[in-house]
Amino acid sequence: MQHGAIARMQHFSMEVSDTDKSIEFYRKVLGFKLTERHQAYEVAKIPVELTFMRLGNSHHELVLVHNPKKTYRKRPTKPEDDLDGPPSFHHFALECDTRTDWLKVVKSIKEHSVQIVRGPVVHSGYVPSGDGSWGENEAIYILDPDGHRVEIFWALAKIGSDGIHINYKGEKVPGTKTEEL
Ligand SMILES: [Fe+2]
Repeated sequence: MQHGAIARMQHFSMEVSDTDKSIEFYRKVLGFKLTERHQAYEVAKIPVELTFMRLGNSHHELVLVHNPKKTYRKRPTKPEDDLDGPPSFHHFALECDTRTDWLKVVKSIKEHSVQIVRGPVVHSGYVPSGDGSWGENEAIYILDPDGHRVEIFWALAKIGSDGIHINYKGEKVPGTKTEEL
């Protein structure tokens, strides 16, 4: 039985091979701000460098972790080439409130010559421009300096009380259902 006590998912934390490079990328391309950066063992029992970055006024939404003792390898950029190793994350996603904002990010991505691995794409089997997939949102997927896949999207569908998905225009999306309400 769900207890419903957790309000939302909030920050994401991942390893980076070069903290300076990653700070620059998340600042310049995606508009994050640097809250604070700390060295390994600054606090006993924290053996890694931690960098806290934010989009709004919460202390952090993104935590960059760097282990100075670790030898980092390049991760394969395509899932088709990533055939061996421990489970890792596939992507994380950043949300824009409006299409205008989303287009600003797309522009920034192009201006900074960032590698785009998918999109811009409309995830929908409902609107004619859709790719046949799920969620009713518009997205672009890029790679950060370590090859981590980052999605930037807007207009993700909401789940109605009847389980029918509702797009950003407030339209019920025919044929949709929800596994668990
Ligand atoms: Fe996604």
